Amino acid sequence: MRLPRGSILIVASHNPGKVREIKALLGPHGIEPVSAGDLKLPEPEETGLTFAANAELKARAAADSGGHAALADDSGLSVDALDGAPGIYSARWAGPTKDFRIAMARVEKELKDRGVRDAKAHFTCALSLAMPHGEMKTFLGEVHGRLTFPARGTHGFGYDPIFIADGMDQTFGEIDPHVKHAMSHRAKAFEKLLHSHIFDESL
Ligand code: IMP
Repeated sequence: MRLPRGSILIVASHNPGKVREIKALLGPHGIEPVSAGDLKLPEPEETGLTFAANAELKARAAADSGGHAALADDSGLSVDALDGAPGIYSARWAGPTKDFRIAMARVEKELKDRGVRDAKAHFTCALSLAMPHGEMKTFLGEVHGRLTFPARGTHGFGYDPIFIADGMDQTFGEIDPHVKHAMSHRAKAFEKLLHSHIFDESL
């Protein structure tokens, strides 16, 4: 699987922030990212049972309907004592108003109900790259740590204010966002993608 300089890459996300981030990462490799939103491609339903399955179905749908290579990601928080929940349902636990105070309160309550105090957890990011009607590769990144309550910090998003990575004292909501971005599950999955020799490395 190779994507030479000048290739178009569909970023299978309707989130302009993600598209900007990927543009910055792939720009030096001569890749031209366009968003699935700009191409008005339909968003498939996330029916997979794993992060990888959901990333793959999004990448596959965008590549096949858009006619160019496509990149998609799926991510979330898995709590050991909750058998991996919220997992692929991480976004859905925040409800229709996407309020993560609700999602974090649910995690806290479910841990309390099970009598768990020191909850091990990890974030996962699955990143899939699909060629139209062709090959597909998936890269996984994880960051491990534990949860703390009450939530602390105003940086980041989602479950960041209750997550403390291994070796740290502060939550992802408290640390400098640059520090988080350098060590996150997303950074690790992207690192694997960039080291996969799929892109032109003659910078
Ligand atoms: P996705 O956009 O479908 O991958 O949604 C993933 C969900 O997982 C987000 O809405 C967040 O709730 C959660 N999540 C993923 N990555 C992070 C992170 O870095 N910090 C906090 N929450 C995250």
